[in-house]
Amino acid sequence: MKEDNTQSLPEEVLKTDAGQVPAKKPKFVKTEKTPVEPFDPEALIEVQHLTKSFGALTVLDDISEKIKPGEKVAVIGPSGSGKSTFLRCLNMLEDPTDGYVFFEGNNLCDLRVDINVQRRRMGMVFQQFNLFNNMNVLKNVTLAPVHIALQDLRKNKRRNFFTKVGNLFRGFEKKKPLIPIETSAKEIREDAAANAMRLLERIGLADKANVYPSTLSGGQRQRIAIVRALAMNPKVMLFDEPTSALDPEMVGEVLELIKELADEGMTMVIVTHEMGFAREVATRVMFMDGGKIVEQGPPEAIFGAPQNERLRDFLSKVL
Ligand SMILES: Nc1ncnc2c1ncn2[C@@H]1O[C@H](COP(=O)(O)OP(=O)(O)O)[C@@H](O)[C@H]1O
Ligand SMILES: [Mg+2]
Repeated sequence: MKEDNTQSLPEEVLKTDAGQVPAKKPKFVKTEKTPVEPFDPEALIEVQHLTKSFGALTVLDDISEKIKPGEKVAVIGPSGSGKSTFLRCLNMLEDPTDGYVFFEGNNLCDLRVDINVQRRRMGMVFQQFNLFNNMNVLKNVTLAPVHIALQDLRKNKRRNFFTKVGNLFRGFEKKKPLIPIETSAKEIREDAAANAMRLLERIGLADKANVYPSTLSGGQRQRIAIVRALAMNPKVMLFDEPTSALDPEMVGEVLELIKELADEGMTMVIVTHEMGFAREVATRVMFMDGGKIVEQGPPEAIFGAPQNERLRDFLSKVL
């Protein structure tokens, strides 16, 4: 099985799917403005003084925020307010200009932290599905997990090789133990396929395992994109307007799946224009405007008693 026919895909897809290309290390320079404060061990994600500029344009303006395990955070706000950029900074698809992002206590802006390893545990779903159109559904779902597991297998075999060579020169008492290798490449592929089929069955698309994404509806494609992210066993799911590119009759099936995940306890951050959904599913709603989180709170407060003028104005247009 060749893993290298993904070259023509957008970089963000490759990056998100767990290390298909080694991500470039963030060119992040610590400044005096952003001392590293101790992170909150109870937060799954914590951002400190997160700032992102494109040239002279400041898109995220000194945001500090925590997301706890199990929270379902809906991010709302006008177009251009920085919602996508915020989400993309959480898993380093964008390098912050300033500030820090911690995920499970790891500082993702620290050059010593392997961003590819961290990113595996953050599932990302985009507006445009971003499935690999040159692979069937099953391959789409198994690609990243198989790639990672094979990488680990090769790494362990390589280590064992060097341990064995070293052991030739060590006295009997001093020989180092080998890393136990319990799976073969074949088993890895079989396990990944079985897991993928289980996930596809769950969303009622097991019969589509061998077809190509282009033959599927938008709603089916997006549900498969979600399953693909789930196959990595993520700790958090990041959704960027997952239903915005769908025909209206398909929005429901995708929101239904996201709601199921929410009910099962998945931590999620979801940028959405579906206010009804945000109200029903979110445990916290963040309103962004001009690169800042202008107001946030439980959905009842945000939709029922908005305080900020701009939020009221926004809601009057979208509700
Ligand atoms: N790669 C980029 N280069 C330059 N400007 C960008 C880039 N990405 C986003 N922007 C700008 O940042 C602002 C916020 O964008 P975005 O985060 O996509 O907003 P939202 O998702 O809320 O609509 C916009 O003005 C957008 O034009
Ligand atoms: Mg956006």
